[in-house]
Amino acid sequence: PASTLIRREGTLTMERVPLPQIAHTYGTPCYAYSRAQIERQYRRWDSAFGDHPHLVCYALKANATAGVIELLAAQGSGFDAVSIGEVIRAVRAGGDPKRICFSGVGKSRQEMRIALALGIRCFNAESPAELARLNAVAGEMGKTAPVSLRIIPDVDAHTHANITTGLRTNKFGIALEEAFELYRRIPTDFPNLEIEGLSCHIGSQILSIEPFERTCDVVLGFVRRLHEAGVTLRHIDFGGGAGVPYRKGEKELSPEEVVSLFVRRVRAEAPDPDTEIIVEPGRSMIAEAGVLLTTVEYVKKGPGTFDFCIVDAAMTDLIRPALYGAWHEIVQTGPKTPRPGSLPVTVVGPVCESSDKLGEGRMLDPEEGDVLAILTAGAYGASMASTFNSRRLPMEVLVDGSTVTPLRRSAVLEDITEPEIPLGMVKHPPV
Ligand code: LLP
Repeated sequence: PASTLIRREGTLTMERVPLPQIAHTYGTPCYAYSRAQIERQYRRWDSAFGDHPHLVCYALKANATAGVIELLAAQGSGFDAVSIGEVIRAVRAGGDPKRICFSGVGKSRQEMRIALALGIRCFNAESPAELARLNAVAGEMGKTAPVSLRIIPDVDAHTHANITTGLRTNKFGIALEEAFELYRRIPTDFPNLEIEGLSCHIGSQILSIEPFERTCDVVLGFVRRLHEAGVTLRHIDFGGGAGVPYRKGEKELSPEEVVSLFVRRVRAEAPDPDTEIIVEPGRSMIAEAGVLLTTVEYVKKGPGTFDFCIVDAAMTDLIRPALYGAWHEIVQTGPKTPRPGSLPVTVVGPVCESSDKLGEGRMLDPEEGDVLAILTAGAYGASMASTFNSRRLPMEVLVDGSTVTPLRRSAVLEDITEPEIPLGMVKHPPV
């Protein structure tokens, strides 16, 4: 995984900070992110474009923690948001509204109003009904809304069924023929909309370039047809999806390879070779920058072939293994080699669900108090955390060289019921 994780005298360190030290200072479960790794990934995406006009819109859903957004905004990153909450987070953390694209199938009128008032770069519209609503809302506000249509490239990304988004059977996007008619009708039927570009997204955790080549075939063919029909586009947004290695032997789909494909194909095949290219990487930007630290609570005998390692992190902190059967490497942070004869462990959390598993068949030889690191957890980790079982949200910190900065208030017990309004019917003293 990430080059920012190094073992020094047996202790796993992020940049120059020993991971057990973070666990002891901030408690666990705790996400730690490497600033150097986040900035490096942004620079890789950005500089791969060379002189070609482009915008890297980091997909906030992967990790929308304020400090993370701030780092990227300071680098000049744009953002892809899927709710007004994400738009507001990006703007509050210093993101430029002119660099925010707003995707998603269910934008409400209120979300549209706020985004229009902020002056975002583009609405990525996913249905004719959304275009009609956006046209009406913009009209009421005396504004013109910049739009892209999210088309369905109908390309199989060969990834997990739950995270493939570019197929016709998914809820996302507009079929090509329908999109063609809509583009032609926009100037006459929707006077408060302005055509900005075209967008698409074929799926996530894609490890081969081939699905992106097929996407270029479809998208650029379509863009040429639009041009012949008199529709010009300022940008083409190819979405996100580049995969990262979760297990040994897997290889990332590199930003350089993806970007050079887009640039080459747009320069060769788009009606205007200088058409701006937008990409929306989420996972690739942040996954490898993050680890989830957790402490072993108990080791419990299993059926004989394996033992249970019960830790203080759970599916509420990292749901990917439970939800997708995803595999995350789990390692000891201290110097430790499994004793001969120790059994593989199933790493589980305290949540009352059989699917509350973080990993199976791991050779860890854990003991109470050991701090484990769950790797490649920066993307879709903290952002998908929940408070199920009245758990607190995990702590998050940023590692920068030899310093550690907290990214949230360390959770206090009050947080558990904080937003709720009690009826006040029972009068014994509260805990
Ligand atoms: N743009 C759009 C419109 C998207 O729907 C997505 C992800 C992205 C960009 C970013 O894709 P990425 O570069 O991260 O692959 N929770 C799942 C992943 C869901 C991704 C959904 N869309 C997981 O943990 O694997």
